Amino acid sequence: MSARRLLVLPGDGIGPEIVDEAVKVLDAAATAFELDFELERRLVGGAAYDAAGDPLPEDTLEAARAADAIIFGSIGGPRWDDVERDKRPERGLLRLRSELGLFANLRPAMLFPQLAGASSLKAEVVSGLDILIVRELTGGIYFGEPRGIREENGERSAYNTYVYSESEMRRIGRVAFDLAMKRDKRLCSVDKANVLEVTELWREIMDELAADYPEVELTHMYVDNAAMQLVRDPRQFDVLVTGNLFGDILSDEAAMLTGSIGMLPSASLDQSGRGLYEPCHGSAPDIAGQGVANPLATILSLAMAMRYSLNQPDVAQAIEAAVEAALDSGARTADIAGAGEAPLATSAMGDRVVSFLQGD
Ligand code: IPM
Ligand code: MG
Repeated sequence: MSARRLLVLPGDGIGPEIVDEAVKVLDAAATAFELDFELERRLVGGAAYDAAGDPLPEDTLEAARAADAIIFGSIGGPRWDDVERDKRPERGLLRLRSELGLFANLRPAMLFPQLAGASSLKAEVVSGLDILIVRELTGGIYFGEPRGIREENGERSAYNTYVYSESEMRRIGRVAFDLAMKRDKRLCSVDKANVLEVTELWREIMDELAADYPEVELTHMYVDNAAMQLVRDPRQFDVLVTGNLFGDILSDEAAMLTGSIGMLPSASLDQSGRGLYEPCHGSAPDIAGQGVANPLATILSLAMAMRYSLNQPDVAQAIEAAVEAALDSGARTADIAGAGEAPLATSAMGDRVVSFLQGD
């Protein structure tokens, strides 16, 4: 088989530090499993804006189009707060998602038993937690037109448009039903159908799709209730499917149930399975450059890339097992260290995972 093309986009803040650890793990996996990879690196976000005046320069977009999978760090930071709206780092990521058609965002929230104590919820509420949020990623209010800030009657007003076409709803719905079939066959669709027409139609489409998946138990929940249920009794959920904005919010909430957002990977997939893989957390400018960030979400994102885009489920499993083994061995970065546990540096955590991957 010809070499698979992997593009690495470190981005800003802690992005470069955590991505370096994922690349370390990739190199070790490539040796252990005799994988053939071509690795490229490009700028994105604020780093790309600083270098080229554009958070998604053309050569980055081209390399992204050519890649089988993209490993993405994180973007943004207060440094670019005053940059004009269209050139902000976040716009680079949003454009990348949109240009590549990465409409299906998979955000698993699993509790590693080793970290039960790190959750802000009681261990008995979260132990064994394993949920998957399927977030629509290229539509909804994030992308709806018209949008803007205008001057009207002597004051400014601002507006965004919340819009989904039936086909957009159907394709994300199918992804969620298909994933539910591979799991516990329970799907909860999250909407605000009591207020918003968009989600009234969303509900109707999900009900329609359910006819094709008689084994899946479909339920509907309003987003405010879902936010509450996630902290009240998160294990009632298996797969959740929702739109772009609600998914953004609920996935941060779900991430925190597991103790640290520093543990959670994500996949953003197109229709054919090509994907961008990134940690759910942001660029954490407060700790950037200190070498203390948790690289595990990015390493686990690499595992997802192996599974969903690179057709290497064994490698995915091996990476996940190495992360578990590192946690079992007591390896903790500062975000997941309990009282009295000495935190490891970012690179030391990466080394620990690599050593378990190599079977040391
Ligand atoms: C996320 C992030 C992004 C989003 C930002 C950085 C644009 O919060 O991936 O969840 O809102 O989608
Ligand atoms: Mg977010």
